[in-house]
Amino acid sequence: MSLDLQTIAVHGGEAAVKSEFGIVDPIHCSSTFTFPNSAAVIALNEGAIERHEYARYSSPNSHTVELKLAALEGTEDALLTTTGMSALTLLFWGLLRPGDQLLFFDRCYHRTRQFCYDYLAAYGIRCRAIPTGDFEALADAIDDKTRLIFTELPTNPHLTVIDLERLTSIARSRGVKTCIDTTLASPINLQPVQWGADFIVHSATKYLGGHNDLLAGALCGTREDLAPIRQLQGIIGAIAAPHTAYLLQRGLKTLPLRIAQQNRSGLAIAQFLAQHPKVKKVYYPGLETHDTYAEARRYLRGGGGLISFELRTDREGCSRFIDGVSIPKIGPSLGGVESLIEQPLLMSFYKASPADRQRWGIDDALVRLALGIEDTEDLRLDIEQALSLI
Ligand SMILES: Cc1ncc(COP(=O)(O)O)c(C=O)c1O
Repeated sequence: MSLDLQTIAVHGGEAAVKSEFGIVDPIHCSSTFTFPNSAAVIALNEGAIERHEYARYSSPNSHTVELKLAALEGTEDALLTTTGMSALTLLFWGLLRPGDQLLFFDRCYHRTRQFCYDYLAAYGIRCRAIPTGDFEALADAIDDKTRLIFTELPTNPHLTVIDLERLTSIARSRGVKTCIDTTLASPINLQPVQWGADFIVHSATKYLGGHNDLLAGALCGTREDLAPIRQLQGIIGAIAAPHTAYLLQRGLKTLPLRIAQQNRSGLAIAQFLAQHPKVKKVYYPGLETHDTYAEARRYLRGGGGLISFELRTDREGCSRFIDGVSIPKIGPSLGGVESLIEQPLLMSFYKASPADRQRWGIDDALVRLALGIEDTEDLRLDIEQALSLI
């Protein structure tokens, strides 16, 4: 029977009968798992049985969440990691060797770019940024040492939606793997495997957890592709702790409901901003005026809860607006039930040079608004009154 994502979110990956017949899984705090005898140790090593051994490799809680994540993404397997960045960096370290090339679309989370340039490059891995959506440049840059193409979809913070099928068909025809960071879409708005992607990465800190109370990441794909990455994870220990896994499992159960509300609010607030005289430009994939609206219609089931917009003012006017809203709190991150707002110039890009800010489209008066699940009209009225302050 094929189940709806709402049902998968609640029951996917979970045992039919749980410890003591409880309706929820307990938190298994054990760092180690004991064996009844030496024969059981041998059976595990021989692959005759599957069980937990040591919580740096797996725990009952991490295992259950991995099954749920794989069910939501429609992949064979998933890895639960400590953060979104650890999911990405495990993939890069696990897959790439000196001399290999990583290609990535340049509009992405600034820490991903920083990791590529400052760390991977120092280990002899060639990292090349391609202008986002420039498929000719991408195809030209592929050589026989290109192992991976990475992109976000939508991108942070401009919500660009690239043509995913074009990307995966170029990559497949050249024998290159693809990794798509769909943190901003969540599997409710997009499942990249349906379009031929190999790896899907998430900052589970965001929509998947959904309550601004945990850090975690996910990497989804086939069992075979994930096997070497899982091995590296077991060595490093970049696995979310049982308590975090439990919180994430709980958060995932309401993911479709939360995303439905964030999609609704996202579109309504983006439409409101787009017609406001103090707003210069709105970046939201659900708006017809967005540069990649056609791609968004094709690939996304909803525009999500993140909106970026430029105000008709300077950096101080923009700060006045942000200081003037009362429901969204000032802070980085997104995807939780509480709305957050930030001026990227003062947050992630404070130390970036003006030239880099211009290259990455970080206007002085750019606002990034991450909607939570508060009432849409309350949010709209709050934003409206703050706009009157500039
Ligand atoms: C698109 C995207 N990918 C990855 C990350 C990294 O996730 P984490 O903070 O969980 O390491 C972020 C964080 O903001 C993000 O926005």
